[in-house]
Amino acid sequence: MKDILQQLDDRRADAQLGGGQNRIDAQHARGKLTARERVHLLLDEGSFEEFDMFVTHRCTDFGMEQQKPAGDGVVTGWGTINGRLVYVFAQDFTVLGGSVSATHAKKICKIMDMAIQNGAPIIGINDSGGARIQEGVDSLAGYGDIFQRNIEASGVVPQISVIMGPCAGGAVYSPAMTDFIFMVKDSSYMFVTGPDVVKTVTNEQVTAEELGGASTHTKKSSVADAAFENDVEALAEVRRLVDFLPSNNREKAPVRPFFDTPDRIEPSLDTLVPANANTPYDMKELIIKLADEGDFYEIQEEFARNIITGFIRIEGRSVGVVANQPMVLAGVLDIESARKAARFVRFCDAFEIPILTLVDVPGFLPGVSQEYGGVIKHGAKLLYAYGEATVPMVTVITRKAYGGAYVVMASKHLKADFNYAWPTSEIAVMGAKGATEIIHRADLKDADKTALHVADYEDRFANPFVAAERGFIDEVIQPRMTRKRIARAFASLRNKKSSLPWKKHDNIPL
Ligand code: HXC
Repeated sequence: MKDILQQLDDRRADAQLGGGQNRIDAQHARGKLTARERVHLLLDEGSFEEFDMFVTHRCTDFGMEQQKPAGDGVVTGWGTINGRLVYVFAQDFTVLGGSVSATHAKKICKIMDMAIQNGAPIIGINDSGGARIQEGVDSLAGYGDIFQRNIEASGVVPQISVIMGPCAGGAVYSPAMTDFIFMVKDSSYMFVTGPDVVKTVTNEQVTAEELGGASTHTKKSSVADAAFENDVEALAEVRRLVDFLPSNNREKAPVRPFFDTPDRIEPSLDTLVPANANTPYDMKELIIKLADEGDFYEIQEEFARNIITGFIRIEGRSVGVVANQPMVLAGVLDIESARKAARFVRFCDAFEIPILTLVDVPGFLPGVSQEYGGVIKHGAKLLYAYGEATVPMVTVITRKAYGGAYVVMASKHLKADFNYAWPTSEIAVMGAKGATEIIHRADLKDADKTALHVADYEDRFANPFVAAERGFIDEVIQPRMTRKRIARAFASLRNKKSSLPWKKHDNIPL
């Protein structure tokens, strides 16, 4: 009996070594942790329960029967993050480059199925050379099975991808279908075809880092939601994100203890908006002053910085924030910011996270490149996302809310529940100067008359009261009272029930 128990321990110890000590050392030398080290950092201490540690591949081609490492290049199982159940897989680059075989894929599918069944998030740690070349189509079929589960899990349980090494070929498409993608600077990359293929096909010369590194995907392509300095920081941030999210689409996000009164008055907000309507101010200051303990988890911080998206808590409950940023392009809506915000709004709506929208928007960005790039369809994504959202929505207009962008940014007309405006708000079709140039074109040559027209338009429309008189604004509030007002508004909406007419699925403009 003792021998059998010892054998089990030996087999486990062997499996835990993955591709062996030399390859583990090589992984460390690159500043990367091993799959198991990553899982242990991600999960609560001692909570990891592993599945399929002894699974091996069944390939007999290319001498593969000679190397059958236990676990087949991926560590899978479940554990907890701050006490809440999550399912996890971590590809083990020390075993055949973490490449995906039929059995490797089966292991991933097993935990994805369990996560969907048990209503818990799926966290995938990717570090892989892609499809296992020796297995040919079997490996592609395995990827297909993973993709199908990503799609079925979408909107049912949160899916988070952490890219901690190469992620090439079709392998990028599994992360692409998840809700959030995080990368590690200088040690992870994602691309459909690598630099060599790019050189052959398009004659462009580019490094792997330039083509698909963390900077590229957080700043240019928006494929990734954030990038971190190293594995440890990335995993700690995933833990922080999971705390903001519900476990599945039928539960609410956890309520965390808070040490910040919802009645907190912030006198400094009374002077946040500068006297000159063209002077920018930092909308993040407002977000942080509204949040419990000033804690803000930003999503896609480096991309389309004219709009801000992320999570805060109010009275310990998660709230998704969408806010125009006057510091960047005057907070205008354009193709990139509309896409970024639309996806965020849809995530919040799918997972019952209430949405707070902070508005200071001069309109949509005009221009040939915007029109050629399809700003009509991309802008419509955000309009559509807000209009279909049924979660509690509270909107605060701080300054400009012009034109179509006024309607888009969670206006009353799109079924937002509470629409507040600061006294500094200007709710109009456009700014006074632009309006004058159109409706008083005949007087444009006369500077005095034009100035009078501008002043008249400002008097009439550069305020929140016209909209308030019509009930499009529920109340004009003092900036200093904003946290209290939105906390009360969200509290009153906790039992909100709203649904859309039956449909198979919608047809959001893609
Ligand atoms: C089998 C692989 C592998 C793969 C790496 N290895 N990728 N084995 N299938 N896809 C093995 C290597 O042979 C090597 O084994 C070990 O993993 C470590 O790889 P290295 O090349 O030494 O590491 P490194 O220099 O860091 O380079 C990493 C890499 C490179 C950039 C990922 O290995 C690479 O380019 N691999 C091939 C990538 C690729 O073309 N994959 C297919 C993509 S197509 P030994 O024993 O020699 O140390 C795809 C389709 C999916 O994924 C479609 C879904 C629909």
